[in-house]
Amino acid sequence: MKNISVIGSGTMGNGIAHTFAQFGYSVNLIDINQNALDKALQTIQKNLDRQVLKGTLTEEQKSETLQNIKTFTSIESGVKAADLVVEAATENIELKLKIFKDLDAFAPADAILASNTSSISITQIAAVTNRGDNVIGMHFMNPVPVMKLVEVIRGYQTRNETTEKIMVLSESLQKTPVEVNDYPGFVANRILMPMINEAIYTLHEGVAGVYEIDTVMKLGMAHPMGPLQLADFIGLDVCLAILKVLYDGFGNPKYAPCPLLVNMVAAGKKGIKTGEGFYEYANGSKDLIIAGKFKKS
Ligand SMILES: NC(=O)c1ccc[n+]([C@@H]2O[C@H](COP(=O)([O-])OP(=O)(O)OC[C@H]3O[C@@H](n4cnc5c(N)ncnc54)[C@H](O)[C@@H]3O)[C@@H](O)[C@H]2O)c1
Repeated sequence: MKNISVIGSGTMGNGIAHTFAQFGYSVNLIDINQNALDKALQTIQKNLDRQVLKGTLTEEQKSETLQNIKTFTSIESGVKAADLVVEAATENIELKLKIFKDLDAFAPADAILASNTSSISITQIAAVTNRGDNVIGMHFMNPVPVMKLVEVIRGYQTRNETTEKIMVLSESLQKTPVEVNDYPGFVANRILMPMINEAIYTLHEGVAGVYEIDTVMKLGMAHPMGPLQLADFIGLDVCLAILKVLYDGFGNPKYAPCPLLVNMVAAGKKGIKTGEGFYEYANGSKDLIIAGKFKKS
């Protein structure tokens, strides 16, 4: 595999494009408008600069990486020579089903179609194509150039050969791929989201404040960041959407989203992206300025 097309140039798409390009793949990065693509290229450049500063990449490798990325605003022209397409567009089922119908129509018949979805069924996505056995989940973690894991999700129809190719490809990016089956939340979010939800319930019930809950998990469990801060990083709306997928998919009340989470999303407090979640953030910066208003004095 040499030619990789990436659909969506947001948080994940630009990281996925960056990573493939850094390891010598030729990348077509596709989004709906040129502004999003220009912003993505700036982000990639900034992240590459950081790698050069840290000494993990040379200036020459940085410019080779940038040269490996081309941008497109049309799926049809961006995927026509693809060996693999990785879809990382907005987490919305109708949108993803539409994109996969287009990919099936425009990508070469033997191209593998992968989705980076956090929670949508790979089997359902595969079912709108005529190549269900060549559709798979490639769940990268944020920030993609740094995080080692790729959760490789086999849909109901995914064939062994496709899974094997994606495992080998992920290793070529110096990632560690882990194969899992297609059930709600896969493994990562099935375990992570109930923990975050429980942390929100713990806050909601007044057991402890934001700072205390996060400190217990950071210092007591050696987590690099507390679950409430992590929720702010992921986006509270995204957490809520994934919990709903778990709740609907399993029909089990243990996955019911905490009412406090539902209220905060309804109030527009979605975490870093809106400047406030469990913590407040200055001008969209990731720097925590104060432990949020739920902190007990
Ligand atoms: N953010 C995370 O931490 C994270 C982690 C793992 C997986 N994911 C998954 O990755 C995917 C992308 O998430 P994100 O956080 O990067 O979202 P994002 O909102 O940052 O970016 C989504 C991008 O998709 C583009 N887009 C929308 N419709 C499109 C179309 N028809 N064609 C091409 N591009 C289109 C948007 O313009 C936007 O640039 C989602 O499925 C999400 O669940 C996110």
